[in-house]
Amino acid sequence: MTTDAGLFITFEGGDGVGKTTQAALLERRLTDAGRTVVRTREPGGTEVGVLIRDIVLHHRGEVAPRAEALLYAADRAHHIDTVVRPALARGEVVIQDRYLDSSVAYQGAGRVLGREEVRDLSLWATGGLLPDLTVLLDLDLVAARVRLDADDKPFDRLEAERESFHARVREEFLALAAAEPERFLVLDAALPADELATAVRDRVQPLL
Ligand code: TYD
Repeated sequence: MTTDAGLFITFEGGDGVGKTTQAALLERRLTDAGRTVVRTREPGGTEVGVLIRDIVLHHRGEVAPRAEALLYAADRAHHIDTVVRPALARGEVVIQDRYLDSSVAYQGAGRVLGREEVRDLSLWATGGLLPDLTVLLDLDLVAARVRLDADDKPFDRLEAERESFHARVREEFLALAAAEPERFLVLDAALPADELATAVRDRVQPLL
């Protein structure tokens, strides 16, 4: 089920690919065009979500893979119910940094829990809500690492994972996009930010 009133756009990709920058640029363009935009993110788009985010990203020590998947799903269930669906029902545009494809890529492929199980968990958590459009920013792992290092922030639990983990995540995102080409726009995140923003705008325009 996608949305019938508003428009639900998600940005996906590995760590350090520039999702936040592109989400902000799209928000500005749509706001300038007179649309009401809710820009949000997972994990951590609600007060409950901020608490969950702290556990999944900063807990020192082990978190069992299934527990990790459930924590992301719990964050998502609350966020979709209390923030995203109400905004869509009001006819607004929701621009969201990460959604269920992140769980399929990170928990399903990265933690090897399996694509179908993790996707079904998120679909159950959200009552089956799928985005109208998902922008996948794809970047090779070396370039992404260079950007993360330049950020000068300590790595969180997921960012600190091995290269093989991030390679599985990237491959899974690309496989998801190939399986649902009508929902995904895949862009080369190495392109300049303004070129990426134009490509995103061109794809969003007919959906408005
Ligand atoms: P994000 O907020 O994009 O990180 P940052 O603020 O550092 O840019 O995402 C936090 C991390 O959570 C990121 O490494 C990806 C991971 N993640 C999952 O593993 N599963 C999920 O379902 C989501 C939404 C994120």
